[in-house]
Order: sequence, then structure tokens, then C-alpha cells
Amino acid sequence: MRVLLIGGGGREHTLAWKLSQSPQVEKIYCAPGNAGIEEQAQCVPLSVDDRQALAEFAEKEKIDLTVVGPEDPLAAGVVDVFQKRGLKIFGPNKKAAQLEGSKVFAKELMYRHNIPTAEYKTFDNPQEAEEYIKKIGSPLVVKAEGLAAGKGVMVCHDEDEALMAVKRIMIDKDFGDAGKRVIVEECLQGEEASILAFTDGENILSMVSSQDHKPVFDGDRGPNTGGMGAYAPAPLVTPEMAKFVEDKILKPAVKGMKEDGYSYSGVIYAGLMIDEKGPKVLEFNCRFGDPEAQVVIPLLKSDLAPILQAVVDGRLNEIKALWHEKYAVCVVMASGGYPGSYEKGMVINGLNELKGRDDLFVFHAGTALKDGQVVTSGGRVLGVTGWASSLPETLDNVYEAVDKISFNGAHFRKDIGKKALKYLK
Ligand code: AMP
Ligand code: GLY
Repeated sequence: MRVLLIGGGGREHTLAWKLSQSPQVEKIYCAPGNAGIEEQAQCVPLSVDDRQALAEFAEKEKIDLTVVGPEDPLAAGVVDVFQKRGLKIFGPNKKAAQLEGSKVFAKELMYRHNIPTAEYKTFDNPQEAEEYIKKIGSPLVVKAEGLAAGKGVMVCHDEDEALMAVKRIMIDKDFGDAGKRVIVEECLQGEEASILAFTDGENILSMVSSQDHKPVFDGDRGPNTGGMGAYAPAPLVTPEMAKFVEDKILKPAVKGMKEDGYSYSGVIYAGLMIDEKGPKVLEFNCRFGDPEAQVVIPLLKSDLAPILQAVVDGRLNEIKALWHEKYAVCVVMASGGYPGSYEKGMVINGLNELKGRDDLFVFHAGTALKDGQVVTSGGRVLGVTGWASSLPETLDNVYEAVDKISFNGAHFRKDIGKKALKYLK
């Protein structure tokens, strides 16, 4: 099988790494890729936004399966462009990708199909949103409707913060068109976890649970990032809860999409808030999470290639997936200043020392090759990932590895996975 991966972050490096182990995969291309992906795939300098050029490349190179990593090309309709040319591609089409691209779409789907989520109201007029906020009081959550790179959600502890959030989204238009409408939502309490599943639009194959760490600093402080680290499985999610999520959240969402006239296929990702009453959906994503993929995929014992193919061919019911009985942890090393502005081009030291281990892999995110050296080229630079039979052992291995890597300005969270330890005592 000849595969084209679209994207160039840690998630795509993980997919390339896993697919490169498949006896069914003879060649992997990645557009645009990064310095690490180069070792598992041939990187091609095509933008993830250039849908026609990507499809032309897939045709020319006789690609059997294209796999889309990030949300933006899905929301822009890359799947539709490929399918129109008869090319096989993994991910939802443009209409179905609204499940992530429009929070209003997702909320309405959840309400129609009785999927547990926070109470909410939608506004396309800032005055009405403000009046509503004054009426119901805080805490509450204000969300821009569209894609805003994870930054369009504001958890507001008082009324002033909520009014300011509406102003930023709707009047100052900080997120452009993504802020044409806002959702004002009940603030849920509890602990977060994610469950991702493969789906072909009919069948669901759940993956192991995971937990991301969005705020930049230890103790969940500071501004939100794309994710500073993750671990899997999340012991907070008991087997009974995972079954509940599959039966009452993931299956109804996929079935509901179908009933409402959308054929959804690819990965469905449920971001959950869990309290003693059970899980509620914070958001759906229509792709693998980043850095959740870095911990979930290494735990997949089965070959990934036939699973992706079964999804695309609509025969996921034929697939059984086996998982390693291990924990995986990913610690993200980021550029100084991230998630704000940062410099690029810092030389990364220590990578070679960690090569060749079977319990650890350094996935690259924002890296590039310059004069034969690996340098930083993005906010999230590396995802140092390990797996072992216990969580404490995995954490020790990963943090030991992190200490061996250095670049100017590097920062990382020192408490990834700490929240899970309390469930393991
Ligand atoms: P989202 O992109 O919708 O998942 O939101 C980003 C982050 O905002 C989530 O991971 C939560 O930490 C927080 N969040 C979103 N919605 C809520 C809510 N209704 N109650 C509490 N926190 C929320
Ligand atoms: N790590 C969060 C996401 O991929 O959306």
C-alpha cells in the first residue's frame, strides 16, 4: 500500500511511525512533514491547504490511501476533492467535519440525539449575549462558534470576564469569521478525558482513553496551548465509563449524523468532562488529537493500516483491534514564549542518544533540517513519548529522556500524568 499523510506535526509523525511498521505499507509520503517524519516517510513540500495539488500528487504517485491529520484541511473539504477524483482518503468530508468546525452544529446534534452535554444558548448578536450573561450570572463558558486553534473557548469566572469574552469574539473579531456566533454555556466541573474512536459511519471501534494537558504551566495554570502532554489510558475512565461513552455518546453521535444526512467516517474524538454523575461532552473533534495520538497509537498492538483501510471501505465491523496492556506518556517540549510568540531556528541537541530504544520514541512536531542539523521551527517542538507496564515507570523513563534533550528556550510541563497517579494507589 502507498500512503500519503497530510500534516506535519507530532500526530502525523506518530502516524508515519506506526504505518512504517506495517508489512502492508510499502511507501509513505508526508505533506509537508517535518525533520523527524523524514526518517519514516518521504516529505513533499505541499501545503495542507493546497487541496488540488495534494490530489494531483496522490493521482500521480498512485497513492492507495491518504490520511488527513489536522482539522483545517478537513473543514475546508480536502476529502471531497479527493473523493471527486475517485481517490481513497481517511477523514470526514466537509459537511461532516462541521462536527468540529461548528460548535453550534455539534451542540444541536447532541441535543437532537440526547447526548449528554452542558446547557447552552447560541447568539448572533452581542447585545443579546450580554443580556443573557447578566441574567444567568457566572461561572460560565463563552465559545466562538468556529475553528480558532483551541483559543476560542473562554472559561469565565465572573460576569466581567464573560462580557469581555463576548466583546473579543464578536466585536473585536479576534478570531475572524469563527466568531460570528457565540455559545454561552454552563460551566461544567470535574476532570477531563478524551475517547477517540474509528468509525466508518456505521460501526465504532473505540481506542484507549487518554488525557491531554492544555494549559502551558504546571498545575494547569497559564494560557491554553494545543496540548503540552498526554497519557493513556486515563485510569479516571473505568471500563464501565468507556462502555457508557461508546453506547451513549459515540454511537448516538455517528448514528445521529447519519440520520441527519451526513456520512461521517474517520476518527471521532469526544472531549469529556467527568464528575460523579458521569461524562458530558465538551466538544467533538473530527480527527486524531495532538498530542493524544502520540500516546494512543503506540498502545495499538494491531497493524494500523488495515484499520484505516476498513474505515475508508466501510467494513470496520470486520476489524478487531488489540491494545498493549501498558501506559504511554508524551511530554511536549516547546519553544520559549509558546503559546505566545517565539523564535525559530534553535539547534536541538541530544536526539541521537535516544535513538534505537523500543520503549521510547521522540516524535517531532515543529522541527526542520538546517545545514544538516535539526532545528526548532514551531511552538510545540518535540513529543518525548515512552511506554511501559506501569505509569510511574513510564513517567521516569520519559522525564529522563527529556533531560537529555536541549535547545535554547525549551520549556515543558513537569507534571504530565500526575493527576492519574491518585487513581492508581
Ligand atoms: P473545547 O475546545 O470546547 O474542548 O474547550 C476547550 C477547553 O475549555 C476544554 O478542554 C475545557 O477545559 C474548557 N471547557 C470547554 N467547555 C467547558 C464547559 N462547558 N465547562 C467547563 N470547561 C469547559
Ligand atoms: N489536544 C487537543 C486536540 O487535539 O484537539
